[in-house]
Amino acid sequence: MRIGSVETDNFTVLAPLAGITNLPMRLLAKGTGCGLVCSEMISSNGLVYGSGKTVQLLDSTPEEKPLSVQIFGSDPQIMADGARIVQESGADIVDINFGCSVKKILKSNSGSALMKDPSLARAILKAVRKAIFIPLTVKIRSGWEPSGKQAMEIARLAEDCGVDAIAVHPRTATQGFRGEANWSIITAVKKALTIPVIGNGDVTAPEDALRMLNETGCDGVMVGRAAIGNPMIFSQILAVAHDRPAIVPNDGQRIDMMLRYLHDSVSYLGEQTACHMMRSRLCWFVKGMRNAGQFRNAIRFISSEKEAEELIQQYADSISAKPVTSMSG
Ligand SMILES: Cc1cc2nc3c(=O)[nH]c(=O)nc-3n(C[C@H](O)[C@H](O)[C@H](O)COP(=O)(O)O)c2cc1C
Repeated sequence: MRIGSVETDNFTVLAPLAGITNLPMRLLAKGTGCGLVCSEMISSNGLVYGSGKTVQLLDSTPEEKPLSVQIFGSDPQIMADGARIVQESGADIVDINFGCSVKKILKSNSGSALMKDPSLARAILKAVRKAIFIPLTVKIRSGWEPSGKQAMEIARLAEDCGVDAIAVHPRTATQGFRGEANWSIITAVKKALTIPVIGNGDVTAPEDALRMLNETGCDGVMVGRAAIGNPMIFSQILAVAHDRPAIVPNDGQRIDMMLRYLHDSVSYLGEQTACHMMRSRLCWFVKGMRNAGQFRNAIRFISSEKEAEELIQQYADSISAKPVTSMSG
């Protein structure tokens, strides 16, 4: 897939997921073949006014490239300045969030609030486009009512402002994550635009990704929730796309992913923060595995990397999981 000057290895995209798609999680997805990884949404205000924690969200490594960094906000000048900071950090793509429907974001006139304010949306896109030379993308929802009329309007407006690709999550802002994603809106947006369209919503199995490509004609497929705990979904999608069976990760591969996630999290976040996160995060990876309950109970109390490593190892031994050297399956 080509997004402006950026060519990705394949059509798969890791969705931005607040609090989840940090560098260690993105590295896991990339390691299993994901074509394009996206950061979680980052406040343009936080970037511009120098919040250390916000700026830390821009941390990256060459291994994960190309990287798309998503920003949110409602002030065109601050969004432009924030986008410039993202570009200077070495990111490959700036993505703008027009889809978040969380109350706090809507209150600040950001996220999907912008889908009912086309003139402000245009001002933001124009200001950001002018401020950066790297590709610019936008992630939208259906809008505020189910017809997708606002999605069409904002998509056309985005193309008109020089946006290089658009991701469409076809649920309304009021819908949150309930109900089904209406893929026909992805089809309609794709038909109306010449820039690449990335479809998103309800890809839960590798076959869904191909069905989305075929049904909607979209150029890329973005996966969110299904990648949490199973970053191997990207290699599974690519296998199915090449007429190979999707290899279900075995216990050894899952253990391998857990160890890598733990080690990367400690090195990028520091031991204390990482271990606190690992108490819940490592539980994602054992879903459906034997003795998972026992592991979940124990991991809740870890306070050091060594302790976590030992618990993972003990768990691997208890289910006779053999370590592996590669996650790509
Ligand atoms: C926990 C969580 C956090 C999310 N954070 C973001 C975000 O930061 N930016 C964004 O554009 N969308 C965000 N989303 C929406 C996802 O990117 C995606 O559009 C949605 O989950 C639908 O795709 P899926 O069915 O593959 O999960 C989030 C979704 C979830 C569940």
